[in-house]
Amino acid sequence: MSEMRPIRPGGSLLERAAAVYDFQAEFRAVGPAAKITPAPLPLPVANTAPPPIAETRPAVPAASPEAPIARRATGPGVIDRNLLAVQGLLVPGAPVGVLAEEFRLVKRQLLLTARTVKATQGDRSRTVLVCSANPNEGKTYCSLNLALSLAAERDTEVLLVDADFAKPDVMARLGLKEGQGLLDALANPAIDIEACVVHTDIPQLSLLPAGTKSNQDTELLASARTSVLIQQLLDANPRRIVIFDSPPALAASPAATLAQHVGQVMMVVRADQTSEGDLRDAVGLLAGCTEIQLVLNAVSYAPGGRRFGSYYGLEEPK
Ligand SMILES: Nc1ncnc2c1ncn2[C@@H]1O[C@H](COP(=O)(O)OP(=O)(O)OP(=O)(O)O)[C@@H](O)[C@H]1O
Ligand SMILES: [Mg+2]
Repeated sequence: MSEMRPIRPGGSLLERAAAVYDFQAEFRAVGPAAKITPAPLPLPVANTAPPPIAETRPAVPAASPEAPIARRATGPGVIDRNLLAVQGLLVPGAPVGVLAEEFRLVKRQLLLTARTVKATQGDRSRTVLVCSANPNEGKTYCSLNLALSLAAERDTEVLLVDADFAKPDVMARLGLKEGQGLLDALANPAIDIEACVVHTDIPQLSLLPAGTKSNQDTELLASARTSVLIQQLLDANPRRIVIFDSPPALAASPAATLAQHVGQVMMVVRADQTSEGDLRDAVGLLAGCTEIQLVLNAVSYAPGGRRFGSYYGLEEPK
């Protein structure tokens, strides 16, 4: 990102984001008729590196056509607030800090766009894909924070879907166990997708795990059943907003497939990492969605490394 221009301190976050890239100019050459909007950017809240996230998931029985319809007998999943804090994620009930304010702005932008999209796309306006060009640019971090922030709204309920089948970690980051999820419901029509939804002790926040991997994941997602299941999730609750935590657009095809099913894409750009070329290519691949919001996520964890705040002329977080 050596071409990023230094910009004056101050100004709104939206203004600063727009000053870093001339987004509209950058993407005019991309081709899709996508409307691309720079959205505000999140700030870090912690200098500490997050704890290692469990790589493995408990084994989940493979779906078979004879499998009984799954029913959850347990109560809501208890989200580990300490784990949220250690990872620098929003903690429900904690005093409102800079990060919470940043995500309020991001959320407002998404809700406003959803209202516009509703006129042409109906229910689909209640779906958001959180994507980025490459791994490690903050998709899951932003999905979780967006979901936590939206769950605090009075009029919305949030369903966060772990759609990163190759590297699912939404559940682990919240301190919850994996279980049956989207892949199981895609593979087995006898499975009621709503029964795979994990309700949590955060009111208005529920989760859908990625589910059981197979070597058919990409084909399953590309099948007509995906759209049926998404519609079922939307029909189950008219107040529900469905957020998909995506795999990276340039690393795997599911991101492009999912983009065809959502009302808007929140494209995470890690300002100290994502190259403009990669960003352009990724946006091109997500052309199935016509509303793309850009969110700058410019945190560096390198000890002594450049941080978002100092680059943008803000105070270092204390
Ligand atoms: N703004 C931020 N503040 C604090 N931590 C962050 C921020 N953005 C990302 N991180 C941390 O950086 C790491 C990578 O982020 P994350 O896992 O969200 O990326 P990802 O795009 O989902 O990666 P993958 O493509 O591998 O799924 C995580 O440890 C995450 O907690
Ligand atoms: Mg991720």
